[in-house]
Amino acid sequence: MEKIPFMDLGAQIRSIEPELRKAMDEVLNSRAFIQGPGVDRLNKEFLKVHGGSYGAGCANGTSAITVALRAMGIGPGDEVLVPNHTFFGTVEPIVEVGAIPVLCEIDEEFKQFDLKDAARKITKKTKAIIPVHLYGLSEPMDQILAFAKEHSLKVIEDCAQAVLAKWNGKPVGTFGDIATFSFFPGKNLGAFGDAGFILTENAKTFEWVKKYINHGRTDKYLHEFFGGNFRMDGLQGAVLAAKLPHLKLWTERRRELAKAYDERLKAKGFTVLKPRAGSEPVYHLYVVEVSNRDEVGKAFDAAGIGYGVHYPVPLNMQPAFASYGYKKGQFPVSEKFATRILSMPFYPEMTLQQMDFAVNEFLKVARP
Ligand SMILES: Cc1ncc(COP(=O)(O)O)c(C=O)c1O
Repeated sequence: MEKIPFMDLGAQIRSIEPELRKAMDEVLNSRAFIQGPGVDRLNKEFLKVHGGSYGAGCANGTSAITVALRAMGIGPGDEVLVPNHTFFGTVEPIVEVGAIPVLCEIDEEFKQFDLKDAARKITKKTKAIIPVHLYGLSEPMDQILAFAKEHSLKVIEDCAQAVLAKWNGKPVGTFGDIATFSFFPGKNLGAFGDAGFILTENAKTFEWVKKYINHGRTDKYLHEFFGGNFRMDGLQGAVLAAKLPHLKLWTERRRELAKAYDERLKAKGFTVLKPRAGSEPVYHLYVVEVSNRDEVGKAFDAAGIGYGVHYPVPLNMQPAFASYGYKKGQFPVSEKFATRILSMPFYPEMTLQQMDFAVNEFLKVARP
């Protein structure tokens, strides 16, 4: 039994259980299992709490990116720039729509999109860029937008880990042409299953997305075009809408805990995530770099401390990319980063006593 879990979804559920049960009961009573009032509530409340103009709940964060790419007209033969260091789900949708993922290095200091490398990879076929606000830290959106403008690219923001994060005071997901979120259970706003969200500032794009995610429907048995089933379950909408009023507080707590970790680890010479000036991070994960991760992992296992690695294998070294011609050694920054990162136990209900226990064990073995 872990003494300190990596994350504790039970603690969050217990803290608002009557509200969650009420929301779920309403779905059972109404039997609005697909979309319906719960999802309508989420769609409205999400825009109020996170910000943005038009948004729709959908099936999950991965297929949200598929829908976003299709909404941007990305298809066979098009090239899409993505960072080499991200969750695999950022990149699958590019292949799903028949386009080609073009992997880009991350920068040494912030471990985000290296636009110099991206510039080298521009071809006539490059049509879009997917900045990923990984770990809940915003990409430098003014630089990304300037780059996209220069090269006439569509911008699809992957905000899966960054609900409530801001860049220069403006919510992530409101900079590019379209944005996607994931409500995977462990995310900062987590459903009781798979769920996602699509956000855009463009009314026309939104009208298309709303139809596309629901079989291209304009009426029950009338289909304007070929879409698909990318809908959100009613239950997920209801649960997420019930959680939303608490999200700001949970996010504040994440920031406090991240600061406390920073104080304890930076002082001992460890490199931790560094938000850029202008970034208001939401810390989906708390990531520290170590040179002896296996040893730390063993010590944590022995002490009953949960941890994770997000992500140990960069995209260029994934078996799925074997036919794309990438080689080990082509992305020195992201490849090295992947060997050094460790995600510490981290969730809003975690106490400082728990943190101190984990940090104490960490400092016994970890080397910067
Ligand atoms: C950066 C990133 N992109 C995409 C996804 C895909 O989201 P989902 O798991 O909801 O499909 C995730 C989360 O899993 C993610 O962390």
